[in-house]
Amino acid sequence: MSKTIRLVTGTTDEVYSNDVKHYEENRGFNALKKIVHMDREDIINELIEANLRGKGGAGFPAGLKWKYLYKVEEEPKYIVCNADEGEPGTFKDRLFMKNDPLIVLEGMLIAAYVFNSKDGYVYIRGEYRDLVAGFQKAIDNFKEAGYLGKNIMGIEGFDFNVHIFTGAGAYVCGENSTLLNSIEGKAGRPRIKPPRLSEVGLFGKPTLVNNVETFANIPIVFDRGAKYFKEIGTETSGGTKIICISGHAKNRGIYEVPMGTNLHDIIYDEELGGGTSTGREVKFVHIGGQSGFIAFPEQFNISFDNDTLQENGLSMGTGAIVVADETVCLVDYLKTVFKFFSDETCGKCTPCREGNKQMYLILNKFSNGTATEADIELLRDLSYTMNQSSFCGLGQSSSNALVSVLKHREDELKAHINHDCKKCFK
Ligand SMILES: Cc1cc2nc3c(=O)[nH]c(=O)nc-3n(C[C@H](O)[C@H](O)[C@H](O)COP(=O)(O)O)c2cc1C
Ligand code: SF4
Repeated sequence: MSKTIRLVTGTTDEVYSNDVKHYEENRGFNALKKIVHMDREDIINELIEANLRGKGGAGFPAGLKWKYLYKVEEEPKYIVCNADEGEPGTFKDRLFMKNDPLIVLEGMLIAAYVFNSKDGYVYIRGEYRDLVAGFQKAIDNFKEAGYLGKNIMGIEGFDFNVHIFTGAGAYVCGENSTLLNSIEGKAGRPRIKPPRLSEVGLFGKPTLVNNVETFANIPIVFDRGAKYFKEIGTETSGGTKIICISGHAKNRGIYEVPMGTNLHDIIYDEELGGGTSTGREVKFVHIGGQSGFIAFPEQFNISFDNDTLQENGLSMGTGAIVVADETVCLVDYLKTVFKFFSDETCGKCTPCREGNKQMYLILNKFSNGTATEADIELLRDLSYTMNQSSFCGLGQSSSNALVSVLKHREDELKAHINHDCKKCFK
């Protein structure tokens, strides 16, 4: 039986952005046509029943997020699609942006109908500027076909327009409150929460922020029905996850797998990662992006779904799977992680602004042979402090990979103290 599935990615093989007719023939706007005859609360209940989890990183249940926003009475409400895709090792949202933006737009349109929203924004990361023209074309074609603008599908008052906003290339702007500040023309720094964005969001108004892949799942949920959708996944994570396999993997690329697929299969099955391209052993995989945890071989036999991963000290994050073979030194690897976060910290709070740099410098002591046992404790203390006291998710999660190493491979740090690393001490 095939390990992959084409539930959400079924119409992403070619560039379809200019072709509403093709989309109509394949997807049929079945979901949209169905929901406009449903009670809005029933729409949200069906989404809750489907167990669709947010795909941007935190895995928050999409139905619950929609329910919170629905309860807020103030209008206007804004719909925002997070297409920042800044997490290293993650390249799945661009698949939709480029090849099938119409499914993302249909998802946003369904949200607009539920929340009576008149305006939606797609926040595209600066580095994806090559996708902007195609996405704009999709919006224009959608409008021309009567799926955007005024009285959509002939329904009076169903008015919705989508605007593109491009970022300037800051990782932190993918964080939802920072993203809204960026659209408002403010510096790319996060807001304090609460209030939730469902209460005080874009331009101070109630706002829904969902990831590209999450929006792409919405038409599938309503086309196929919640029952069908949830049965594909596990008890608490319905449907599929699009994963991005990279690094030393033999078969690097994007794959859609049912939630609950075994992580070992994701890494080794020939239809998926296929082991390493180097023929060497897999030493570890970094899951979910730079802010994710690291899994070592003894942890590979595990169900790849949001809750099981979390219960086992891992997280799904964006679905990035970076495979490292046995030649990779963990200290070297962690240095690249902290270098990344030192560059990307917004500087608003001290634990993150200073902490990430200090982490990098301390790790440098391990690779140049000057570290002591006390430095291991310092790494542990600092990672705890940063996690507990940083203002936003960036500083709270930047030490996750280090936490995995401290928990499962402290011996490799100790080996560096004894100058016992073939990579660092040739
Ligand atoms: C530092 C940081 C960067 C983030 N970058 C992204 C991103 O590039 N894309 C994304 O969808 N979510 C990103 N997120 C998560 C968003 O804050 C938010 O949870 C997400 O857009 C919600 O969508 P979802 O519920 O559909 O997953 C980031 C979070 C943090 C803390
Ligand atoms: S944790 Fe603090 S410094 Fe780091 S990105 Fe968030 S607000 Fe900025």
